[in-house]
Amino acid sequence: MLALIVIAHPNPKSLTHGIASQVAKGVSAADEDNTSEIADLAAEGFDPCFTAQDISMANGEIDPIPDIIAEQERISRADALVLVYPIYWWSFPALLKGWIDRVFTNGWAYDDTSSDRLIKKMQHLPVHIVAIAGSDMRTYARHGYFGAMKTQIDHGIFDYCGAPVLTSELLFMSDPDACLKTGKLIGQKIFAPHSVVPKSYNNKGT
Ligand SMILES: Cc1cc2nc3c(=O)[nH]c(=O)nc-3n(C[C@H](O)[C@H](O)[C@H](O)COP(=O)(O)O)c2cc1C
Repeated sequence: MLALIVIAHPNPKSLTHGIASQVAKGVSAADEDNTSEIADLAAEGFDPCFTAQDISMANGEIDPIPDIIAEQERISRADALVLVYPIYWWSFPALLKGWIDRVFTNGWAYDDTSSDRLIKKMQHLPVHIVAIAGSDMRTYARHGYFGAMKTQIDHGIFDYCGAPVLTSELLFMSDPDACLKTGKLIGQKIFAPHSVVPKSYNNKGT
């Protein structure tokens, strides 16, 4: 089984990258036949800007754009999609948002061209979300930021496309060791039967 681990952080020495590596270690530790492919969007120079060209492609006016097709193909090869990212302004980084904007196209991720119903085309792909926070749990709880992110990202994006979100974790950078441990546990669970990561794995025990 193959996990595609998408990282949206410009610094390879960041905690975010460290956690993503632990997720990958966990994937292969659980079963040596399991592997991971790392999609380091910053290092690869993925262009997150949705342009007029993207609209033309969506309208079928131009040939498919190579970088979009390449991203869709590597998602299609994967048995699970893992997103590891730092929280920027209570959401995910623009780099990752742009990746979704450009890659999760109408007709590929979903199809809403027919007026009577939405076709969800990613139902086969389990998603695991690992968000890293600089702020603390109390701040998230006080303002409802984590709930807001779940509504927008888990429900608004992945449920819209039919992809089941099996893990949605908020890790706090104030305890980096716990973040790294949790990352590995998440990786170990990705291809386990009924792979829902228990809430107790959250590094704040919630
Ligand atoms: C532009 C920017 C915006 C940020 N916004 C938030 C935020 O809204 N909430 C939060 O908890 N942390 C925020 N942070 C802190 C990052 O989430 C934190 O640096 C990251 O999760 C963990 O560290 P790493 O960069 O070493 O991976 C922000 C950081 C930057 C650079």
